[in-house]
Amino acid sequence: MAEITVIGSANIDLVVNVEHLPQAGETVPGGDLMTTFGGKGANQAVAAARMGATVHFAGRLGNDAYAEQYQTHLLREGISLPLKEPVPHAPTGSALILVDAHGQNIIAVSPGANGHFTPEDLDNCEKVLRASDRLLLQAEIPRDTIVRAIQLANTANTAVVFNPSPMPEGFPWGEVHLDYLIVNETEAQALIGVDTTDAESLLRGAKTLLARSMDCVVITRGAAPTLAVTAQETLSVETQPITPVDTVGAGDTFAGAFAVATAEGMDLAEALRFANGAGALSATRHGAQVSLPTRTEVEDLLR
Ligand code: RIB
Repeated sequence: MAEITVIGSANIDLVVNVEHLPQAGETVPGGDLMTTFGGKGANQAVAAARMGATVHFAGRLGNDAYAEQYQTHLLREGISLPLKEPVPHAPTGSALILVDAHGQNIIAVSPGANGHFTPEDLDNCEKVLRASDRLLLQAEIPRDTIVRAIQLANTANTAVVFNPSPMPEGFPWGEVHLDYLIVNETEAQALIGVDTTDAESLLRGAKTLLARSMDCVVITRGAAPTLAVTAQETLSVETQPITPVDTVGAGDTFAGAFAVATAEGMDLAEALRFANGAGALSATRHGAQVSLPTRTEVEDLLR
């Protein structure tokens, strides 16, 4: 069974469905407020757990009632929590999310306790990191904490899957080793320095990133085929045809499933197909963690 350590954020998502996303200064009516568990780190941890992996999630919760509810929820998902102490002087992180009738969203994140996740907090995580097949990270926690986590994984020979979302400022690309980088088109453009979403240009740019101590670059593109490059191969893998109702958490589902698939030894093409299937299923349902599919559902879709 794959063993995955996820280090990252946990948020309470406050979600309202609207007909269309408002312009600046516009007020739009919406449906009932939904309060759900989210945050890119915890979403990816739950996604990996539902794909059947043993998962450890290290994240910081705040000094409020949400912290205990969140821990109970993650433990029920079968996830172990190496960091249990809440941050005493900050609330649990939260995200304000609007989703339109086509499944598109806008999100504003208030980091709260996630912003107080220090590199020293990782002292408790070294043991699980050493035992894990993959370290999976995103970028809703401080940059120095991300860097230390990657350094610990590099030393422990634990493969790193980094999803730099949102794109961190001043990240020391090339100074730490990434086994897999997962970016969407916008993040890829920012990193490669191109302003096109054309597949050939993205692939050319992704190849140049390999020189910055990365073994594999994956670019997700919504419904368009997912791209990937390594020193040996270049892949373009079709996504599943679906009608999206809510894409919140779809990228996190992809990342969690991809980490599990590669840890289980699937080859890159298989792992991308598996992750595409998981991401697609999550976009057919509302919410972040509530929308995450089980392994059986993904295998049924791909059969
Ligand atoms: O990727 C989706 C997540 O982004 C949401 O759950 C929200 O909390 C924000 O972190």
